[in-house]
Amino acid sequence: MRFIGNKENLLDRIKFILDKNEISGESFFDFFSGTTSVAKYFKKLGYIVYSSDLLYFSYCLQRAYIQNNEPLYFKNLTRKINIEENLLFSDPYENIFSHLNSLPPIQGFIYHNYTPNGTKELPTPRMYFSDRNGAKIDAIRIEIENLKDASLITENEYYFLLAALIESVPFYANIAGVYAAFHKKWDPRALKNFEIKYISPIVSPKKCFSFYGNSLNLIKDISVDILYLDPPYNERQYAPNYHILETIAKYDNPQIKGITGMRNYDSQKSDFCNASMALSKLDYIAKEAKYKFLVLSYNSEGIMSHDSIISTLGKYGKVTCDEIDYIRFKSNSNGLSKNKRYVQELVYILRKD
Ligand SMILES: C[S@@+](CC[C@H](N)C(=O)[O-])C[C@H]1O[C@@H](n2cnc3c(N)ncnc32)[C@H](O)[C@@H]1O
Repeated sequence: MRFIGNKENLLDRIKFILDKNEISGESFFDFFSGTTSVAKYFKKLGYIVYSSDLLYFSYCLQRAYIQNNEPLYFKNLTRKINIEENLLFSDPYENIFSHLNSLPPIQGFIYHNYTPNGTKELPTPRMYFSDRNGAKIDAIRIEIENLKDASLITENEYYFLLAALIESVPFYANIAGVYAAFHKKWDPRALKNFEIKYISPIVSPKKCFSFYGNSLNLIKDISVDILYLDPPYNERQYAPNYHILETIAKYDNPQIKGITGMRNYDSQKSDFCNASMALSKLDYIAKEAKYKFLVLSYNSEGIMSHDSIISTLGKYGKVTCDEIDYIRFKSNSNGLSKNKRYVQELVYILRKD
């Protein structure tokens, strides 16, 4: 999934660094989970995984991939749609996704606020989704809620379907990568007909746990072998950059404002986007959390300097730092270092005394 700081392409290299430093264990806490890519990777390796994030849409992904440990059969729903729609796929997922994709469009919150026809009264009509795709997203989102309210799906099935919807939306959004602005012309991706895409659960015998909210509130309650920190590294808050995914996940008819139709995110601001707060919060986590190894992934151009990170973590044990070179995220190539194509991901490891 397109997401600033998504570690999907760095996972093997992060694991290589952990192996090289002989870091392993049984439990892993993905403290700033985002797309859940890191949590998923360590769950597949057999760890007991904890995950958490300030964003609700991340929580939906976490519930689908991390906390849910079982194959989902959609028994109640399959029975109903097989009878009504004569769908006879042997794979329950095919039945469900085919049902969702065949729903007639509904002009709901997304259509009325993020498509050109739905916002034609505004001085700048919003072009996040084509009219049809906005109404398809509404139809699927409304159906998922109705299925839950009618007890036709379980809680795990509910989050699984929400996760599939959330992961499908970026393939049709008329944006350059984040939702803080939309293109004024249609990107071809936005003109394709919206379809919810298949996802699969990750089955594991180890119980895993997911949380929504400020992860710092959890540090006294969770004890793990590896505490993995991948905080924001600059002043750009995540919530405004992903406001539409948040609204699709919550579907709570929020008050919105401005050219982009932004929801309020006062309660979702991260201290790690604030240069004067980030270091003291890192210090707090390193000091108070319960872990054997703290692993911090941080961009070499981040607002906490390399030296300040080393001296902060160094108060609590032995610290090492490894580097990974990678190609920068496109929409982050503004500002001073515009011409630099590669940046480094720095992986700090603290072994607590
Ligand atoms: C760099 S991204 C993490 C990317 C993630 N590792 C991935 O691969 O997708 C940082 C994440 O931290 C979350 N975040 C920031 N401050 C937080 C806090 N205090 N508590 C929980 N999550 C927070 C943001 O919402 C964002 O999803």
